[in-house]
Amino acid sequence: MTYKAFTLSKYPQGHITTDIFELVTLAQPTLKEGEFLVKQTHMSLDPAMRTWLQPREDSYLPPVQIGEVMRSYGVGVVVDSLNAQFPVGTHVVGVTGWSEYVLGHADMQVIDASIPAEAILALFYFTGLTAYAGLMKVGKPKKGETLVVTGAAGSVGSLVGQLAKAEGLRVVGVAGSDEKCKWLVEELGFDAALNYKAEDFEAQLRVAAPNGVDVFYENTGGSIQEIIFNQLNRYARVIVCGVLADYDHEVPAKGPSWVDINLKSLRVQGFIVTDYASFADEAMSVLGRYLAEGKIQYKTYTVEGFESLPEGLMKLFKGENTGKFIVKF
Ligand SMILES: NC(=O)c1ccc[n+]([C@@H]2O[C@H](COP(=O)([O-])OP(=O)(O)OC[C@H]3O[C@@H](n4cnc5c(N)ncnc54)[C@H](OP(=O)(O)O)[C@@H]3O)[C@@H](O)[C@H]2O)c1
Repeated sequence: MTYKAFTLSKYPQGHITTDIFELVTLAQPTLKEGEFLVKQTHMSLDPAMRTWLQPREDSYLPPVQIGEVMRSYGVGVVVDSLNAQFPVGTHVVGVTGWSEYVLGHADMQVIDASIPAEAILALFYFTGLTAYAGLMKVGKPKKGETLVVTGAAGSVGSLVGQLAKAEGLRVVGVAGSDEKCKWLVEELGFDAALNYKAEDFEAQLRVAAPNGVDVFYENTGGSIQEIIFNQLNRYARVIVCGVLADYDHEVPAKGPSWVDINLKSLRVQGFIVTDYASFADEAMSVLGRYLAEGKIQYKTYTVEGFESLPEGLMKLFKGENTGKFIVKF
């Protein structure tokens, strides 16, 4: 039996294009003792994929190599098994690849089949841990402070804002359309949401954060970063989760001044979610409680069909998704 996969045929120059991937047909492997085969059903599309396509060796993961199946994570079900811990029918989540079937591995997590795959990808796996660990462990927010989160209508940003609201902060979201901003305020309960494409973004931010900004959860980078940075209060924390507006550019947007880091005693810290794996149970328990209490909700943007993966990744960088981008097949 055969199955489809996408391999990397060349590294992107600037924006992602569909021709950097090649659709290939692979033969299903014969399992050896201890192995199991997973049929993927739902795959997450993530901005980080762009960073995995940068041929640099000093990042937290090695780049995907030319000819290799594109890296990803997703949810699937075990369809063949010579491993007693992962019998046929087990639902799993883990690092997979752009491939209809994948060989399972010990790092895959068994999931409760009654929890929708969408909830796993949007809330209970890397996304939820990224939002929780970044905000709570890196940002150390205090009740009454003001938080600004960029990429606010994306999967991480929408959770960060809701979590901060639940923790008693004033929350200002930054997103790329008025419709997304309306959703953030009217459905998710943000105190304010600003369209970063507005000419008077800087003035709007002064109104939305009248007491200045204490916590800046940075998901996008780009030219708005400096505007937000310049409105930080003394002792503010900047959580650098991602700078996706800069992933396509060889030279990133001009960064903020180190003078303010010194004079305002700011803390600017990058982080990678996998370094916070020990907080996964704590994160899932807090997020699960807030979900049950109606204090947070998740939204998914789902595209159907395995072959829509390359196009989907392009859509993500054009901001077409609200909430978690999922490809279902
Ligand atoms: N540190 C970690 O371990 C870790 C883990 C997961 C994710 N991340 C990072 O967290 C960030 C958010 O990830 P996510 O999964 O939440 O993303 P997402 O749900 O896919 O959201 C991406 C959103 O970013 C916005 N965007 C795209 N291009 C932009 C640009 N040039 N300038 C400003 N906004 C732009 C788009 O919405 P608009 O319409 O608003 O433009 C898009 O919908 C990314 O930078 C990602 O790399 C980091």
